[in-house]
Amino acid sequence: MGTHPMEASSRPVFEYLRLSITDRCNLRCVYCMPPEGVPKVAHAQILRYETILAVVEAAIAEGVHRVRVTGGEPLVRKGVVELVRQLAGFPRIDDLSLTTNGVLLARLAAPLREAGLHRVNVSLDSLRPERFTRITRLGRIEEVLAGIEAAIRCGLAPVKINVVIIPGENDDEIEDFGRFAQERAVDVRFIERMPFQAAAAAPFVPQEAVLDRLSRFLTLAADDTRNGGGPAQVFRIVNGRGRIGFISSRTHPFCQSCNRLRLTATGVLLPCLDSREGFPVENLGQEQLRTLIRDLGARKRATGKPCARFEGARCVSLSDIGG
Ligand code: GTP
Ligand code: 5AD
Ligand code: SF4
Repeated sequence: MGTHPMEASSRPVFEYLRLSITDRCNLRCVYCMPPEGVPKVAHAQILRYETILAVVEAAIAEGVHRVRVTGGEPLVRKGVVELVRQLAGFPRIDDLSLTTNGVLLARLAAPLREAGLHRVNVSLDSLRPERFTRITRLGRIEEVLAGIEAAIRCGLAPVKINVVIIPGENDDEIEDFGRFAQERAVDVRFIERMPFQAAAAAPFVPQEAVLDRLSRFLTLAADDTRNGGGPAQVFRIVNGRGRIGFISSRTHPFCQSCNRLRLTATGVLLPCLDSREGFPVENLGQEQLRTLIRDLGARKRATGKPCARFEGARCVSLSDIGG
């Protein structure tokens, strides 16, 4: 039975809120930051947890029921476990997740789980130690692999691994990542690189090419469970343990079904990852926040532009938006 048209149109525009809690990071991935890092935002400009929680409260009142904590690297911010505990205390949040580079996860997976986090997504662009260090400039792969194991062990499920495939950089590891998912209870998601940071051409590997190579040794079956309701298209590995996902904003734009609202580390609400305008939340009360979120929802409904078209300058950097 299909959804009644009235029900479909009365769904809130925003059901999923992404919170960037810091612009700082303990890595310097080549496609994200220059070697010296991005200029740090002054501490005073970073939103206090109290303000973040006020935004969450208003967003929930406007229909949000999924919340993701991101960065920069969210686990470098002091008090992140306590923030998660507070978020877990909102009864309306039925999906509470965090995106991390995994460096601090071996230590923090258990405390985060105990505080009420449901699941984690971990970025990992190479399985080869030297290459991993080159891409991240500072990372040690053993730390991230230990973090992934810790997350699986303490039930932060499903654990999703994010792989941005860059031609000539790591596209020779597509099969290795496929085998990684075949052997473990994880989702490996291949992400089409988005042209951030004025790298307008940003070469990427299209989903079909990756799928083609994986299908030679993995038996894949479309999986409709879509955990998290995100943009990923998911396949179950019939001859293995995990799943394969694709986030293909270049070849399969998903703006039409996008239900996301973003709060940047400096306190700006964005109706879209590609927003040219931000809306500051500092000093707004609950009623004003709710009105702002409703206005942003109306704007989002009105535009409907494909994700793949990243042109010109965004109002904030990727490490401030949190992906
Ligand atoms: P779940 O599906 O809830 O597990 O999370 P997610 O995939 O949305 O979050 P994650 O932080 O792991 O992001 C993975 C990739 O998806 C990153 O490259 C994000 O930039 C990208 N992404 C997430 N949301 C959007 C979106 O609304 N538009 C576009 N174009 N990309 C997005
Ligand atoms: N295109 C697509 N994804 C990106 N990420 C970082 N930069 C890009 C880009 N240019 C991903 C990271 C992380 C997530 C939050 O965003 O790999 O997993
Ligand atoms: Fe840090 Fe993530 Fe950027 Fe890498 S992609 S430098 S882990 S914020």
